Amino acid sequence: MSTNWIDAAAADHVWDGAGIEAQAGDRTVALFRSGEQVFATDALCTHGNARLCDGFVEGTMVECPLHQGQFDLTNGQPLCEPVTEALRVYPVRIEGGRVWVAIDG
Ligand code: FES
Repeated sequence: MSTNWIDAAAADHVWDGAGIEAQAGDRTVALFRSGEQVFATDALCTHGNARLCDGFVEGTMVECPLHQGQFDLTNGQPLCEPVTEALRVYPVRIEGGRVWVAIDG
C-alpha cells in the first residue's frame, strides 16, 4: 500500500473554528482548523448521514450537527454518545499555501 499526498484545498479556505468539505482524490473529506493545525476526517459522521463540516468546532472537537455526537479531531475517537464508532482521520500537511491530505492507495 502506498500513501498519496493529495492537494485538497487552499489553506486559507479552512477557517479557525469551522469545517469545510473537500475532495481528496476520490475521497470526500472534512477539513477543520484549530489555530495553526488542520485536521482531515471522513466527511460523514459514523452514526448517520450527517456532514461533519456543518458541525460545531471547538478546539480539537467537532460536534455532529444531527445528534450532537462529538469526535476528537486528533484521532477520530468518539467523545460522547450517540457516537460509538471512531471517525477515520487522515494525515495533513500544509505546504505552498495548500492543504495536502494523505490517502492510502
Ligand atoms: S448522525 Fe452524527 S451523531 Fe447521529
